[in-house]
Amino acid sequence: MSSGGFSPLQGMSDIAPPEVGLWQRVESVARSLFPLYGFEEIRTPILERTPVFTRAIGEGTDVVQKEMYTFDDRGGRQVSLRPEGTAGVIRALCELGPDFAEARVFYIGPMFRAERPQAGRKRQFHQIGVEALGAPSPAADAECIAMQMHLVEQWGLGGAVLHVHTRGVAADQAAVRAGLIEAVRPHLGALCEECRRRHETHPLRILDCKNPGCRAVVDTLPPVMSFMAPESRAYLDEVVARLGALGVPAQVDPRLIRGLDYYEHTIWEITHAALGAQDALAGGGRYRIDLDGRAVEGVGFAMGVERVIMALMGAGVKVEDYRGRPDLWLVAVGDRAREENLALAQQLRRRGAAVGLDTSGRSVKAQMRAANRRGAPWVAVRGDDELAAGRCQLKDMAAGAEQSVTVGELIARFAKA
Ligand code: HAM
Repeated sequence: MSSGGFSPLQGMSDIAPPEVGLWQRVESVARSLFPLYGFEEIRTPILERTPVFTRAIGEGTDVVQKEMYTFDDRGGRQVSLRPEGTAGVIRALCELGPDFAEARVFYIGPMFRAERPQAGRKRQFHQIGVEALGAPSPAADAECIAMQMHLVEQWGLGGAVLHVHTRGVAADQAAVRAGLIEAVRPHLGALCEECRRRHETHPLRILDCKNPGCRAVVDTLPPVMSFMAPESRAYLDEVVARLGALGVPAQVDPRLIRGLDYYEHTIWEITHAALGAQDALAGGGRYRIDLDGRAVEGVGFAMGVERVIMALMGAGVKVEDYRGRPDLWLVAVGDRAREENLALAQQLRRRGAAVGLDTSGRSVKAQMRAANRRGAPWVAVRGDDELAAGRCQLKDMAAGAEQSVTVGELIARFAKA
């Protein structure tokens, strides 16, 4: 079967069985862990007015300048597919009002960035994220990071490394800008064209540039923390100390910047060796976002689900193990058994058993092959004789052994509810 040339757009993928079973597991582990920390789910629209993103994320960021899917809707409004979750969630929480001033929410869903696709970098990707509103507090940041590392552990993902750093407070950001502009100036000739252009407007972006010439310059610069007030350093130290007390080791990484403008104070990334060049499994930080004149403060993170899946598979997880399997497969010999099997399957399914069967009248051999392909551990075969006797032949697919059981026994054996 082919879709006649209608394959998905570049950088967008269908997520199908058997892989989708692993996705479901990753999501369900997150759904059961977040409530332990008091987080509830929120679902916001995938499409928003463009300024929700440009204001929150920042006009000068790569995400806003190069990566958003933006277009005019039928009413001539400029709208964008969400490139990340935080902006829309903050918009929603502002609208929900004062009861949500200290909200703790999580979200799971697709995000869109028009990046150059490569392994671990998609144009439609999926995030599992959280946001916790509230004033800056090293304890709140440490709690949020500890929850994230708890999730990584629950997924069974060893080898993840936590890198933390700080963006400082608003006053620091002016000093960092000024300091960086001066420190970079003597090296302008060695920078790529884009970094030369943004040197005065967005000097922090230079620290994120992948160009080898720019990287060499960045290595010679003083750490951005050296431009910050001592309180910002102390805040970060306290976050690290609290993480230590919670048993979460953190590496302070003076080169960590994060590509979104809303951050203040703590920022972090989790990397994993199995991911290769795009090694960020997750990113997060404390932020201050002002959409309509009221600044909202909070802390949160997002994990890329594609990257979590890649890391799990790199660690030897087999997607086949997460494929849903039937408990039982019903095989019919003849038309009457085929009809009766549909009724029996319905009876069993109402009692919580996962039952497969063929409704199209294929040969017994083809039905057995289908049972095998779907990994059914048991097969019940009946034809006219078994129907007359109210029995079926129950076959253990692994052992090959067969026994005759009554329909009542079969139901009792496979019923769960
Ligand atoms: P981010 O670092 O832009 O942060 O994205 C978070 C994670 O999403 C990344 O670490 C990565 O795993 C995944 N990701 C990002 N872009 C792609 C892509 N093109 N393909 C595959 N995976 C990708 C944020 O989005 C912030 N909203 C996180 C946050 C929440 N900060 C505070 N609250």
